[in-house]
Amino acid sequence: MDQASSLRKLIRGKSEAPSRSRATTKTSTRVISITSGKGGVGKTNMVANLAVAFANKGKRVLIFDADLGLANVDIVFGIHPEYHIGHVITGEKELAEIIAPASDHIGVIPAASGDTHFADLTEGQKLSLLAEFEGLDNLYDILLIDTAAGISSNVIYFNSAAEECIVIVTGEPTSVTDAYGMIKVMFLNGSKHFKLLVNMARGLQEAKAVYATLNQAADRFLKGAVLEFLGYVPYDDYLRQAVVGRKPVIEQFPYSAASRSITKLAEHILKTPSGTTGSGNISFFMNRLISGD
Ligand SMILES: Nc1ncnc2c1ncn2[C@@H]1O[C@H](COP(=O)(O)OP(=O)(O)O)[C@@H](O)[C@H]1O
Ligand SMILES: [Mg+2]
Repeated sequence: MDQASSLRKLIRGKSEAPSRSRATTKTSTRVISITSGKGGVGKTNMVANLAVAFANKGKRVLIFDADLGLANVDIVFGIHPEYHIGHVITGEKELAEIIAPASDHIGVIPAASGDTHFADLTEGQKLSLLAEFEGLDNLYDILLIDTAAGISSNVIYFNSAAEECIVIVTGEPTSVTDAYGMIKVMFLNGSKHFKLLVNMARGLQEAKAVYATLNQAADRFLKGAVLEFLGYVPYDDYLRQAVVGRKPVIEQFPYSAASRSITKLAEHILKTPSGTTGSGNISFFMNRLISGD
């Protein structure tokens, strides 16, 4: 038996009990990456709060912190995981051991420290990582990926491998140009469909104006790209306070404006199909991620 199949067997043995007791039907995990061009636009907070909003609707959510080098998602949830995905890559830990519980029905795969390039892993590392992730499809309904800022190859890999890509942008001109840069690189990499979310907006009008600017540019220069307006989250001081309190705003201030709009957003996402068919599961995502295409 080769390394991959023995690992697969190991993972199956581990994951069978919980999945059997939960449901008999096989679920397909929805894989959504949250990205931007510019940093500081609210990706990590959106990931954490969307996770809570999905979990409040009974969904089991896994967060993949792909902002390598920075302990991002941990901070928003106020958790201090000891291990990270790097320990799985080196074989020191199994995936199940490093997934940190963040809240009810929410698990976090903490980011590796240093610069881990998934496409640069050895064949053996890739196979064992794939085997480790295979067991997860039955355990989670949604995988949210928190990416780093910028258009590094890692970010592009994560976004391209995900079934859906939500681009976060604010009204700041630099954020808009950087979001366009991200969409363009992704488009040149083969992605066609993007969902745009305007964060820290002063209202629907401002959000729509930001969307219109990007949509016009895409219409003109990126023929065939589809930019969908997902909505907006208002600027909200409660969200800032929540960051200081190390608990997602939806948990700390559920009735704040930001919390209400993120809850509505989560409902909208759950109601709408992903836009692509058949590609939404964790194993498929990992396959694409590590093969780098
Ligand atoms: N809707 C919002 N209203 C007010 N402040 C926000 C909002 N979204 C994000 N922020 C602020 O922006 C900071 C950066 O957000 P973060 O989620 O870390 O961004 P990113 O992950 O894109 O770098 C947060 O610490 C918070 O203070
Ligand atoms: Mg972040």
